[in-house]
Amino acid sequence: EFQVKLASSGRIVTVPKDCTVVQALAAAGVEVATSCEQGVCGTCLTRVLEGEPDHKDMYLSPEEQAANDQFTPCCSRSRSPMLVLDL
Ligand code: FES
Repeated sequence: EFQVKLASSGRIVTVPKDCTVVQALAAAGVEVATSCEQGVCGTCLTRVLEGEPDHKDMYLSPEEQAANDQFTPCCSRSRSPMLVLDL
């Protein structure tokens, strides 16, 4: 489990093991637009301001993934205890 922080409000949402970031945000009332929910389309792409995502998508190039400044919250997770998202 890890946490995501919404940069705009400072709100912190916990993402349990069995839940995607999109699901955890939705449960907290924060909607992120999705389409494929499998890391293919890039619809859910979200900017990451702090922290290291655990990229599970096939949308970003390896270089884009390594930059750690965006991720796909429909399927990707976090390597750090907290991600700060531009939401
Ligand atoms: Fe398609 Fe996340 S919804 S990559």
